[in-house]
Amino acid sequence: MVGGSPMQAVLMAPGVKDRKVMAFRRDALKDKDAVAALIRDMVAAAGGPRSAFHVLDLARVVDLHRGWRRSLPAVRPFYAVKCNPDGAMLAALAALGAGFDCASRAEIEAVLRLGVQPGSIVYANPCKPDAHLEYAAEIGVNLTTYDAEEEVAKVKRCHPRCELLLRIKAPDSGDAKVDLGLKYGANPEEVLPLLRAAQREGVTVAGVSFHVGSGASRADVYRGAIEAARAAFDAAAALGMPPMRILDIGGGFMAGPTFDEAAAVINRALERYFGDLPCVEVIGEPGRYFAETAFTLAARVIGKRVRGELREYWIDDGLYGSLNCILMDHYVPRPRPLAGARHGEETHASTVFGPTCDSLDTVVTGYQLPEMSVGDWLVFDDMGAYTTAAGSNFNGFATSDIKIYLAYSS
Ligand SMILES: Cc1ncc(COP(=O)(O)O)c(C=O)c1O
Repeated sequence: MVGGSPMQAVLMAPGVKDRKVMAFRRDALKDKDAVAALIRDMVAAAGGPRSAFHVLDLARVVDLHRGWRRSLPAVRPFYAVKCNPDGAMLAALAALGAGFDCASRAEIEAVLRLGVQPGSIVYANPCKPDAHLEYAAEIGVNLTTYDAEEEVAKVKRCHPRCELLLRIKAPDSGDAKVDLGLKYGANPEEVLPLLRAAQREGVTVAGVSFHVGSGASRADVYRGAIEAARAAFDAAAALGMPPMRILDIGGGFMAGPTFDEAAAVINRALERYFGDLPCVEVIGEPGRYFAETAFTLAARVIGKRVRGELREYWIDDGLYGSLNCILMDHYVPRPRPLAGARHGEETHASTVFGPTCDSLDTVVTGYQLPEMSVGDWLVFDDMGAYTTAAGSNFNGFATSDIKIYLAYSS
């Protein structure tokens, strides 16, 4: 981190320092009301935004990073770029000293452009295209995950200097929003054959990784996963492999009280299962934890239809844009009128549609809203995780056209 406060380091980071960053106060208002007040000022200003946009509160990212370091001091975060690859978000986390979990060549390139060293990147995609792996070899990203014997042969062929993290399946997905164990992670009986495959090929296994599932609601899942990781460390030692030195506890974290609970479970489990291996470096791959609450979406009402009591509105972002998280990430939209609801004001059952011609592009139905007009705005909180990252250009509405404004609260 460069000198000064973490916030100053973020403001001076490449990717942030040449952009306008709006300062706003959150002292008198609750966090979310303060962002809404900023958005109100923005859209009221001459030349202000006239179509859907996001606000990224960089101070929130700084706070979350501080919270991570306080609760998990022994675990270096490698931000999962896939969650939200916004350049300022990446730059902020790089300035704060985070490493990065990249899943592809493009994600690695985005991070390297910010001056991040290849050694601060884990190529955490267990199944990689040859060309991406060859690129990793060229630029010296030398750590990747695997959970299949075929992948060992591929790594040997495309990037023989690369070290491996054996991705194991977490024993319990913890009622996660997204159960990644359905696709990735070695089953317990696969651990030995996968270690032997690497041993045979002469590819180093530097450690073990897991992911308990994205948006894990039960903190205790980390304990079982850390215990299983220790069993894999012991299995490697029993095979006479060089001692493993990295434990990657993946992502799954959410900001808020469940994070503190998860951190307490993790710290206890690290002590219990890895206390006798003090040289093991522990890293994590948080995505949602840093991104979710740092972004707020403002979408504009671009159309309206009244059908008796029912109100129907069209807005300029939807399920093919950043609100794809409704389908892809189980996001529950609770839009708030930017104007606020006046006390005692009548509300109507309302449907809110996205802008495309697909009827699936429906954001909420039967949702109580006060009477709104074309040109009014709706605010969606916690819109940073798996939102813009997975939006499309369907019908010519490009997700990348949804501008991201930078701000920092104090
Ligand atoms: C390998 C890997 N690491 C980290 C993450 C980030 O997870 P989360 O956003 O739950 O922290 C994901 C999400 O899909 C992932 O696949």
